[in-house]
Amino acid sequence: MVRDDRWDRALQLLGGLHYLALRDGIDPWGDPAAAVTEHADWLRGFVAEHGIQTNEVQRSWMLLPCFLEIVRRTGTEILDLIEIGPSAGLNLVWDRYRYRYENGGWGKADAALELSGEERRPVPGSLWGFVPWVRRRRGIDLSPLDLTRDEDTLLLKAFVWADQQHRLERLNRAVETLRTNPPVLERGDAAERLPELLAERQPGALTIVVQTAVTGYLGERAERIVGALEDAARQFPLAFVWTARPAPDVHDYWGLWVRIWPEGEPFLIEHAGFHGQWLEWLGEDE
Ligand SMILES: C[S@@+](CC[C@H](N)C(=O)[O-])C[C@H]1O[C@@H](n2cnc3c(N)ncnc32)[C@H](O)[C@@H]1O
Repeated sequence: MVRDDRWDRALQLLGGLHYLALRDGIDPWGDPAAAVTEHADWLRGFVAEHGIQTNEVQRSWMLLPCFLEIVRRTGTEILDLIEIGPSAGLNLVWDRYRYRYENGGWGKADAALELSGEERRPVPGSLWGFVPWVRRRRGIDLSPLDLTRDEDTLLLKAFVWADQQHRLERLNRAVETLRTNPPVLERGDAAERLPELLAERQPGALTIVVQTAVTGYLGERAERIVGALEDAARQFPLAFVWTARPAPDVHDYWGLWVRIWPEGEPFLIEHAGFHGQWLEWLGEDE
């Protein structure tokens, strides 16, 4: 996918206006042209300095069944996670949220955040009995955000559409959850750094590498990442979950793909909306 820089500039500009609204309490939306004129120098600096940064925690709702299906198939309940392009890492702490699905729920009853969505073909209730333990969580991002810092939290909020209060509310609860024990996020290019992170594995767990909403940025790096995974899978238990097109000509929603080594053949386990707002389970019923 070739990204159009002009579209990015427009989104950065809107992010800058939202940043000012959140930080200073101004209302730029009544007369945005006047707000842009008044804050032109500051906005120029913001656009030059801050690429778009988003981290959609609702994606944990579409990911959880994939993780539990991997646990079911491998029989391993101790997990080490590595996320490619985690942004702030909100989906690396998926096991701390509460979830609702048609056939049951999962997670701690007192979680600060509960996630739910629309199931177009429901996830089987038998999966909710699996309760894996996440032993380790790491991420590699070109520009990771540190949500223990108020500046980074503000930046992440600024790139949520300003009228989507429910997403901002969800983000606040997810940030609160993450801050109790933040995951380790490395700065760097995943194609460069992944082999090193994979080499740090400790015996006794299944490593799951996960990537959501990053495929479009990777280009030829995607092949290097797959090569690193295949090399690592020769040495220890490994699974990979990622979002990509479900079929070459489908552009309106995602496929959730899974590979579990040693077989290593990719299979499609879900269709899902881009923000994880709906899913269609493609695996077995029970
Ligand atoms: C659209 S965001 C998705 C964030 C998160 N995965 C989610 O689903 O909410 C894309 C993320 O990928 C990161 N990214 C893009 N190219 C990358 C690369 N080559 N290596 C590591 N991270 C990358 C960006 O910095 C950004 O944080």
